[in-house]
Amino acid sequence: MEKLYEGKAKILYPGAEAGTVRVYFKDEATAFNGQKRGEIAGKGAVNNQVSAALFRHLEAHGVPTHFVRELSEREMLVRRVEIVPLEVIVRNRAAGSFARRYGVEEGRVLPFPLVEFSYKNDALGDPLICEEAALALGLADREGLADIRALALRVNTLLGDYFARRGLELVDFKLEFGRLPEGRLVLADEISPDTMRLWEVGTGERMDKDRFRRDLGGVEEAYQEVLRRVLEEPKPV
Ligand code: TMP
Ligand code: ASP
Repeated sequence: MEKLYEGKAKILYPGAEAGTVRVYFKDEATAFNGQKRGEIAGKGAVNNQVSAALFRHLEAHGVPTHFVRELSEREMLVRRVEIVPLEVIVRNRAAGSFARRYGVEEGRVLPFPLVEFSYKNDALGDPLICEEAALALGLADREGLADIRALALRVNTLLGDYFARRGLELVDFKLEFGRLPEGRLVLADEISPDTMRLWEVGTGERMDKDRFRRDLGGVEEAYQEVLRRVLEEPKPV
């Protein structure tokens, strides 16, 4: 089957139905804009199933997404969208590039959920971008940015609660949005341990791609454990 696109973590193929795309999730892993490369056995299956469960949960709570259905262990069918070239990051605690950029200790709780934008451009290394620059470059308009911000914060509330019931803290995450042919904005891409920081409640143990980025070991095990928590019955909090 002819590929539409191959990225670092996924391959896109035309879907069987008009206006759809089949997404295949790979085990290949990269970090630091592709400078570090490796493989995480079983990652594709985990990321597909975690993303599917989270998209379903968000849809059930009124957040529109590109998700249609799961096709296999590591494939899903999604609606074809035009991706808004912004990476939308929501942070509840200082971590990763935020902690490095501003010289603050990783783990500091932020006084409110912070929304950041990066310009989705691998050649430039996905640079941080302010809203005015995004507008000036025509990446989105004011209304689009306001809608994206509101949806990202709603996703933060819904997923923060979802993971808290599974003993994990949602520290930060990255979203991408797309537009359907009729112009409607929907959540796209994936939401997985590749694109979120999840810390074990109580111990702060890293349960996400930071285990790979930072050579912490137990990478495969952490991915499998996140899938297990996502599939388990939630606990009351
Ligand atoms: P950062 O602290 O490295 O900027 O990452 C913030 C969040 O975004 C973190 O949960 C990991 C996720 N992320 C991606 O999904 N893709 C990326 O390319 C990067 C750099 C981060
Ligand atoms: N996936 C991104 C890259 O390859 C960055 C990351 O997740 O750290 O480079």
